[in-house]
Amino acid sequence: MIDSYESISPTAILTAYPRMFTDIPYEKEIYKWLSKNCNENVKLNKLLAPEIEARYKLTNKLFEDTGIEQVLELAAGYCSRGLIYSKKGIRYVEMDLESVSNNKINLLNDIDSINSNLNIITGNALNFDDVIKCEDFFDINKEIAVINEGLFRYLTFDEKKKIAINIYNLLKKYNGVWITCDVTPKKFLQKQDNSNKGLNENINVITSRNTLNDRFEDINHIKSFFRDIGFKSIEIHKFIEMKEELKSFDILNIDRNSFDELLENGIVAVMKI
Ligand SMILES: C[S@@+](CC[C@H](N)C(=O)[O-])C[C@H]1O[C@@H](n2cnc3c(N)ncnc32)[C@H](O)[C@@H]1O
Repeated sequence: MIDSYESISPTAILTAYPRMFTDIPYEKEIYKWLSKNCNENVKLNKLLAPEIEARYKLTNKLFEDTGIEQVLELAAGYCSRGLIYSKKGIRYVEMDLESVSNNKINLLNDIDSINSNLNIITGNALNFDDVIKCEDFFDINKEIAVINEGLFRYLTFDEKKKIAINIYNLLKKYNGVWITCDVTPKKFLQKQDNSNKGLNENINVITSRNTLNDRFEDINHIKSFFRDIGFKSIEIHKFIEMKEELKSFDILNIDRNSFDELLENGIVAVMKI
């Protein structure tokens, strides 16, 4: 049965494309595979590269700071993170909807291979029964990190809450941390409209799920929303922390200061229960 959330899946190509213009390993091979094998009609945008690179690198840095050795990445899309960390010995479970997971397995087998630390599973992050499928691969005696990038912006607050409760329940069993950039405040969207004209209209056309009503107001709203679910520690980091690490500015020959306002308003939250 096709999941109604599958309308969001083509956006995984939208976010895979700009990672080609960075130094992140495997991303060029991944996009090359997608362009040959996926016939999605999505309007691509190179200017997304600085923010996508910043959120990817900030998430990695914050994950590495934890020293945790097992990860569940929800809505992992076509991202290379699982492949890279699993090769470093991290137990890594990627979950996404059926079409993306199937493509991911085929693409990884074509461009590299799926090692024994990497598990690609199909599931809907709103269903706890799907989320706990990761238990088959994890050591219950070790903490986990849950990661997601680019999922919540397409969901209503009720849907975001359901996933946050699923993650809370998982962390209750394992302990650990939730690292996510999926707390987009309204101001980030406004800055995105300034630095990347037409982007949000394009996302509206693809998903019909990109409304300003589904955005967090500000950092206070982010904190109160997750505190009400039971998260006790909510640390806020900004994309701008990664500015010096971003290679996309030089690769695309864009002024490295012209994205400051956008990067100032992009957030990665690190949450514990
Ligand atoms: C913008 S893409 C982000 C993909 C990847 N994290 C990245 O940054 O490139 C959104 C992803 O969310 C996935 N998705 C949408 N709804 C989902 C759900 N209910 N459960 C799991 N994944 C979902 C889509 O299939 C898609 O891969």
